Amino acid sequence: MRPEGDGTLGTVRAAAPPPERSPLSCRREDFHLPGDYHYLNCAYMGPLPRVAEEAGIAAIRAKRMPTDIVPPDAFWETDGLRERFARLVNAPNPRRVAIQPGVSYAVATAARNLPVSAGDSIVLTHEQFPGNVYAWRRLAAERGAELRAVGPGDGPGRGRRWNERLLEAIDARTAVVSVPNVHWTDGTRFDLEALAERCRDVDAALVLDATQSVGALPIDVTRLRPDVLVSATYKWLLGPYTLALTYFGPRFDDGVPLEETWIARERSDDFQNLVDYQDAYAPCAVRYDMAERSNFFLAPIAAAALDMILEWSPERIQAYCRSLTADFLTEVGELGYSVEDEAWRGAHLFGLRMPASVELGPLRDRLAERRVFASLRGSALRLSPNVYNDPADLAVLHEVLVEAVR
Ligand SMILES: Cc1ncc(COP(=O)(O)O)c(C=O)c1O
Repeated sequence: MRPEGDGTLGTVRAAAPPPERSPLSCRREDFHLPGDYHYLNCAYMGPLPRVAEEAGIAAIRAKRMPTDIVPPDAFWETDGLRERFARLVNAPNPRRVAIQPGVSYAVATAARNLPVSAGDSIVLTHEQFPGNVYAWRRLAAERGAELRAVGPGDGPGRGRRWNERLLEAIDARTAVVSVPNVHWTDGTRFDLEALAERCRDVDAALVLDATQSVGALPIDVTRLRPDVLVSATYKWLLGPYTLALTYFGPRFDDGVPLEETWIARERSDDFQNLVDYQDAYAPCAVRYDMAERSNFFLAPIAAAALDMILEWSPERIQAYCRSLTADFLTEVGELGYSVEDEAWRGAHLFGLRMPASVELGPLRDRLAERRVFASLRGSALRLSPNVYNDPADLAVLHEVLVEAVR
């Protein structure tokens, strides 16, 4: 295992106790969102902040003159993304962060490198996002392993029960647990501390798809010690599509990447001598970078958005979402709408279940007419607010929900 902090990148300073910070106020002015556009669907896609849009336009213009895009700086700009993401998830060594094109890619990298044998189990949650399913299906079929997709079961106390069932499904034959932090359909929250401890007890690898939470909910890899933690950047990281940032723990230090790129090799910064071929991969997670990882268009957009999120902080974003929705949830609760217990859901992502009298078709139409954007998933309305939402957004949604129960 390599020592943490090796390599040439700067290391992230040890996390100091967070200073008391004032609550976040609405950041709508940092986005181009019209006043009558009630966007409550960050779980689908985050809007681009103004600064990120400007960074993207400047980046595109830079390619007018290729001589402005020269090694090493332009090719190593993605190291800045590693540093920002490492700070966000409290990973001491930025080299533990790989630049990848999506969650499916990160999960496929994990599946390629984890030892799974016949009779082992791979534990997932029921109806998990498919990007964190297909690689495990293939691996289970190839190796004769069992895929256990754990559901919530029936009855009250759904979130708590789902968590209990998940822990019970992990046993001595479990090789991998690959789960989200909050479920993409309804925001059910999984207790990562308990899961990480259980995985350590049985020596199972823990792969976390934190795409629906990193940025809006604090997460700390130093405490949790997962083996993999990935987030696409186009949702709660308010960045571009086709980019994911993936933390890989020491278990992956000697692994094999999906692609045999030249850029993720030792000495790939020596442009004069690239045909002095190197067998050795770059250290830690850098070996898992995608081909052409130095994406001059996407990297500046992601960096600008990450800077905003680091300044706002996931703690304050989560608190903002909680206080924005508290009264609304009490009021719609009185109309018969229900939501998961606060301890078992995100404040930034949750499913509102309908009273029996509500017809989903007319509700969908009315939401569209009033320009309220949220996803209807089964019989629940998935709501995913963020810092650009204000009480006016929830007031319009409230009006639609009042009409729907009449
Ligand atoms: C939980 C979760 N993971 C991953 C993704 C995206 O996966 P990929 O990057 O493989 O397209 C989504 C998209 O909705 C998601 O909700």
